[in-house]
Amino acid sequence: MLSATFLTPQQIVKELDKYIIGQHEAKRNVAIALRNRWRRMNVTSDIQNEIVPNNILMIGATGVGKTEIARRLAKIADAPFVKVEASKFTEVGYVGRDVESMVRDLVEQSVNMVKARKKEEVKEKAAHAVEEIILDALIPPMRSKTAGFPVTTEEANGTPASDVELNERTRNLFREKIKNGELEERKIEIQVKQNTGPGVGMIGAGMMDEVSMMNLQEMLSGMMPKKAKKRKVTVGEARKFLLEEESAKLVDMDEVKEEAIRKAENAGIIFIDEIDKIASGTGKKGGPDVSREGVQRDLLPIVEGSTVNTKYGVIKTDHVLFVAAGAFHISKPSDLIPELQGRFPIRVELTNLTKEDFVRILKEPKNALTKQYQALFEAEGVTVSFEEDAIDEIAKTAFEFNVEMENIGARRLQTVMSRLLNEFLYDVPDKTFPDSQIKITREMVTQKLKGLVANKDLSEYIL
Ligand SMILES: Nc1ncnc2c1ncn2[C@@H]1O[C@H](COP(=O)(O)OP(=O)(O)OP(=O)(O)O)[C@@H](O)[C@H]1O
Ligand SMILES: [Mg+2]
Repeated sequence: MLSATFLTPQQIVKELDKYIIGQHEAKRNVAIALRNRWRRMNVTSDIQNEIVPNNILMIGATGVGKTEIARRLAKIADAPFVKVEASKFTEVGYVGRDVESMVRDLVEQSVNMVKARKKEEVKEKAAHAVEEIILDALIPPMRSKTAGFPVTTEEANGTPASDVELNERTRNLFREKIKNGELEERKIEIQVKQNTGPGVGMIGAGMMDEVSMMNLQEMLSGMMPKKAKKRKVTVGEARKFLLEEESAKLVDMDEVKEEAIRKAENAGIIFIDEIDKIASGTGKKGGPDVSREGVQRDLLPIVEGSTVNTKYGVIKTDHVLFVAAGAFHISKPSDLIPELQGRFPIRVELTNLTKEDFVRILKEPKNALTKQYQALFEAEGVTVSFEEDAIDEIAKTAFEFNVEMENIGARRLQTVMSRLLNEFLYDVPDKTFPDSQIKITREMVTQKLKGLVANKDLSEYIL
């Protein structure tokens, strides 16, 4: 859950700075919202339940970092996170996804996170158990592990103690060999459990809601006998397989479900992208607007706080943090129904990126494009370097394209970079470069891209 060493707002911004250039206002607000949840969890009085999350509405043109901020935020918070597109939903009763599915997805995500953590916790124990199973397959024990009862008839008939001892010694020897990875290629026979459930998905699809469908499926697969099949595999393969099985056995799923629900309730983040697409736009009545408003009305109780049924149990959405984002080119935030507007009290505007921002985005983030390409070439043993001038030219070209054609924000850098480096990516490693070095210069950038700038028809097609 939320730990005592949770990052402060300033630390959160510092983390976000590693990936996102500029947009300080947005970073600041999401950082506060995140820290506030930790603060709420540490409130001891009854008012804890009254404290509502600071849901945020991010407004900004395409490709300026809205989604990126939300995604990084979730990573920092180690919180269950789902991203949905508002335009994908349809009003309840129509064909399409209903809004509650986003909450079910959040719980699913939370279950996966908790399960993974719990599996990690029992990893050592599971590994130990697996070692014993593999050992048993290699050298079956003479002495029963349960209370030392004799297992073999020979032993029952009075096998000399020395044989049992010898068996133990051999087993110990092999245990060491397994540990040292000396027997990875040895073939052994293990029991493999197979699920023999029918394809329940076919039955009654369309007649049942998603939850009862899932419950039914789970129930049936629990009832179906798990057929055990013998398979000959190498020790290495067996380990991978058994480890999964043993750690799953050691994890208490009821505990996982409960913890996952709590985690989703208190730490979950739902990011609703393209919320502007469900705003009513010009205010005309009728047509598609009716359904859009329907989606908004469906969203309302979820954002406001309600209970949703999931296959892992009931979840209350009161403290889930919602971050909505949209470009709002055509519609305005005020075109959303007032109740929904009110549920996103914090508005942050993301600024358009400048050419200077582009220069920094190309160089600075941990996942900067120049670093990504360098890593790709490095995998071929080729070192790529970008001269300062070249980076400047790339940024400038991308910026110009955005002005002349559609403004797609920082995404333009991706298309420009790929255009610039594609030929090298094709040539490496078949063609060799002097000293395995490629130096990207300003001339190279202009030469490869200027033709496109001049020829608008061509560039619109290619970039
Ligand atoms: N301020 C920024 N700093 C660093 N990288 C950025 C920034 N803005 C955008 N990017 C990069 O551009 C890409 C697109 O950004 P993002 O997905 O956040 O756009 P968006 O604002 O959500 O746009 P849309 O409205 O189209 O969804 C991301 O891969 C991201 O790496
Ligand atoms: Mg986005």
